[in-house]
Order: sequence, then structure tokens, then C-alpha cells
Amino acid sequence: MFKLIPQPVKIFTDKSVTGFVLTDNTTVSAFDFSDDLIVFVKKVLHKEIKASNGDCLISLIIDDNFRYDEGYSLKCENNKVNIVSKTENGLFYGIQTLKQMLLQSGGNIPYTEIFDFPRFAYRGYMLDCGRYFYSVNDIKRIIELIALHKINILHWHLTEDQGWRIEIKKYPLLTEKGSVRSHTNFNRKSHGGFYTQEEIKEVVEYCHKHKIKVIPEFDVPGHNVAAIACYPYLSCFERSLEVATHWGVKRDILCAGKESTYGFVYDVLDEIMELFPDKIIHIGGDEAFKERWKICPHCRKAIKENNLHDENDLQMFFMSKVNDYLASKGYSSVMWGNDTEGGTDNLSSKIAWTVYKPHCSDEMIKKELERGRKLINSKNKTFYLDFPYGWTSLSDVCNSDGALTEKDEDTYGVEACMWTEYVPDMKKLEFMTFPRLGAIAENAWSPKNSSNFMDKIKDYCKLLDAYEVRYAPLNKANPSFIYKHFSSIWFKRRVFHWERIHIHFDNKKVKKLSENYDK
Ligand code: ACM
Ligand code: ZN
Repeated sequence: MFKLIPQPVKIFTDKSVTGFVLTDNTTVSAFDFSDDLIVFVKKVLHKEIKASNGDCLISLIIDDNFRYDEGYSLKCENNKVNIVSKTENGLFYGIQTLKQMLLQSGGNIPYTEIFDFPRFAYRGYMLDCGRYFYSVNDIKRIIELIALHKINILHWHLTEDQGWRIEIKKYPLLTEKGSVRSHTNFNRKSHGGFYTQEEIKEVVEYCHKHKIKVIPEFDVPGHNVAAIACYPYLSCFERSLEVATHWGVKRDILCAGKESTYGFVYDVLDEIMELFPDKIIHIGGDEAFKERWKICPHCRKAIKENNLHDENDLQMFFMSKVNDYLASKGYSSVMWGNDTEGGTDNLSSKIAWTVYKPHCSDEMIKKELERGRKLINSKNKTFYLDFPYGWTSLSDVCNSDGALTEKDEDTYGVEACMWTEYVPDMKKLEFMTFPRLGAIAENAWSPKNSSNFMDKIKDYCKLLDAYEVRYAPLNKANPSFIYKHFSSIWFKRRVFHWERIHIHFDNKKVKKLSENYDK
């Protein structure tokens, strides 16, 4: 009878027996997340329930012997709800399930037993705040919405060519100058914003309250035009640049041959580690074009001195060095996977990958698994939420699977990615994220093929309505063939923008610069 998202592992309901009726006298065990249920009940059932440290009608019970860390059992009988788990995370997930049951039953739940645990340990949502800045309040709303889906990781993309978003006390220019671009593509409006260290702490705390860990991303060596605009010595030819104003992959990246670059990266990471206690940092590694490195004397020297094959190998060396620095402080790292032309022999196998290119071959996956690398499935065809529904419809997501191979153990988890070049505000973000995130959550949490998401879509939309989510209506989420066709053409227009011409002439300029460059 209940249509739950994500589908639990086991559920049994006997409609003929009353299990639990919620009233104004209902109490729930007091945890720091109990108000999540209290606020929901007030909003959808207009009842005032309370948290209590004594015996409660909704009892949240920690049991060290429960088998699964994030799993829980939920029983509604004899006018009581018992949720049992080994961890607070499990109890929180039980609450998320209970919220849907209360909504669907109007607060009168028949006898029900649920046993549930996640398919994958890592269930992520990435938010790109570099292209567009999202306020702390926006991010709190996103946290509430992803928590509802039993997502347990916020991957927070904080540095970009088009904007540096995190206050770093040792390098004040990063936010004074690097957080603002003069315009966006062909408009005339400046755009900016950054998070103070206090605001970062507030977001991390809010995530933890929602049982979400935060993985900040400082993307290196590419995607650093905003940093280079503030500190030109970070680039190969000390170029004087502005914070990037157009989308597209930039050619000016951090110089991998100068010690000063590593000094900067380590200093920034030191402050990031202070702010993010979850001990994982995403270090980017994507889309680092090597035009500059090929002609930079510092980079050439680094290749030679370290017996590397070429500039691709230099990138693997660079990423490994950053990983080793983090490891020396007890942090682990993740990078965008399979941007590794030239192989991964020189890439530390301790760096986990978010696999994002859909053509990442089975052999490559097998090889990296043999090296012991953890792999997260973010293959863009399924998991990029910025892709229009004409490219990745809701049905496409429903018909895909979270695992990268036949065996679930090979996949550490899945991550939905919200890139924001074409997502300037919360209205668009909600439209692009939902209802797809419901299907992704099933991919991340539920046993494979355990239910049909589309059979549950009406109840899922009611849940989203309770949170006033501005989701895509079904006719847009599963568009007709004609609409699909035209929306694809519209999205592909991105590759026609002027960036290519700009790069052609800019490369010529740098060539000249390199000819006159000392050392
Ligand atoms: C990426 O899509 N550049 C990770
Ligand atoms: Zn260089």
C-alpha cells in the first residue's frame, strides 16, 4: 500500500490491523534531528507533536547489535512506532520513511514492518557554486531536500574559473577579487558571492544535522582562472587574467612545475581541512588542457626531473602529490575520474574517482578496481542533473543502474551532479533536480529492480508538494520525441559559442609570451 522513495529492502503491511494513529499527544524520542519529523507533521498533518527524553510513542532506539550501519527497522503496532538502528544515521533514515508513511496514510498507519539498508555506502549530490553563487539559505533548502532522499554526501564545488567561493584568510584576494566576474557570457551584469569561513561552518553543521557529510572541492590544476586572476604567479607564464566571464574549458591552469604552486595549494588545503571535518576532499583533476604545460619551462623541467613521460603523466604526479599531502594530515581525496590520457601508472590508487564520462570502458574500470581504487558512478548520461530532460529523461534515469559492473561491491556509490552554467537560481535547480533525484535515490539506496519508480510517481510528487518543490511536471520530465529532439539541439548550441575562436588567438598570444619568457 505504501509507495516509498527510495524503495525499502523489505516491507510488510496488514491493512486490516491498525498500527499507529498520530495525535497531538504523540511524542518522539529527542535527538538533534527530531524536529525534522515535528516540523513535517505540523506542516502536513497540522498536529503538534513533541520530543521527549522519556518513553515515547515514536521511539528511536540505538541497538549496537543491528547489522547494518545505516540500516534501520521500523515497526508500527499496538499504537507505537519503533525505529531501531545501530547509528543515528539509520534512525534519521527511518524518520524519512515514516514521514512518507504519515503523509500517505493521513497519520493513521496500519500494521507495518520495514527492514531497510542502503545498496551503496556513498550517495552523493554535487552542487556547483562556482558558476552561480547560491546563498546559505538556498543551500540549507537543498540539504533538507536531499536528506529526504537518504543522500549522505554533499559534494560542494567551491572553486571555478568563473568564481572563487570560499574565504581563505591567507589569500584574501581570492574572495575580494576572485569571487566576482564582470559579466556572464554576453550579458552586462556582474555576478559574485562567497562564503565566509563562519558560513561554511554553518553549512557543515546543517549537513551533519541531516546526516550528510560534506566533501568540499578545490579543483586543481584546471578550473583556476579566478585564482590566477588574483595571483598570476600561479600560472605558467604569470599571465594577467580576469575572472572568467564565459563558460567553456579554459587553457590557463595552475603551473605544475613551480614550487610556489604547491605552496599555494597546500595553504588553501590547510584552511579547507580546518573547516571540513569529514576528512575527504575532492581535488578536481578534470578538464586540464595541457597547452601551457607543453611549452612552459617549469613544467618541462618537472617532467624531466621526475622521470615522467609527458604532461599527462605530470598531471598524475601533481594529483598524487596533492593526495599525499592530504593523506599526511589524515584526509583522503577524490578526483574526477577517467580524465587520464596516458594512463594512471603514476596516479596514487588511494585517490577515489567520480567516474563521469560515459565512455569509461569496462577494461579501464577493471584496471582501476585491480589497483584498489574506489569508484563512484557519476556517468553524466544518467547522473548529470544539468542535462536537459530531452537528453536524460526521467525514464532514462529509471532505466539505468547505479552499479559500474555486474557486482555491486565494485561500486562505492553514486553521485548526482548539479552543474550550474545554465542553472542560475533555485527555481531552475529544483526543476532540473526533481523528479530525477527520486529515481537516482532508488539507484543509490534500493535493491536493484526492486520496484517501479513510475508506479510511485504520484505519491512522490505529493511528498515534493509538501516541501513546495518546483519540480518538472511529467510531460517535461518525460518529453515527447519532438520536444526531445529540439531540446537537444538547443543544449548542443553550447559548443558553438565563441570560446573556440578566443582560444585559438589566445594560444598564439601565449606562444609569443613563451618565446620571450625568462628561464
Ligand atoms: C566535469 O564534468 N568536468 C567533471
Ligand atoms: Zn608551467
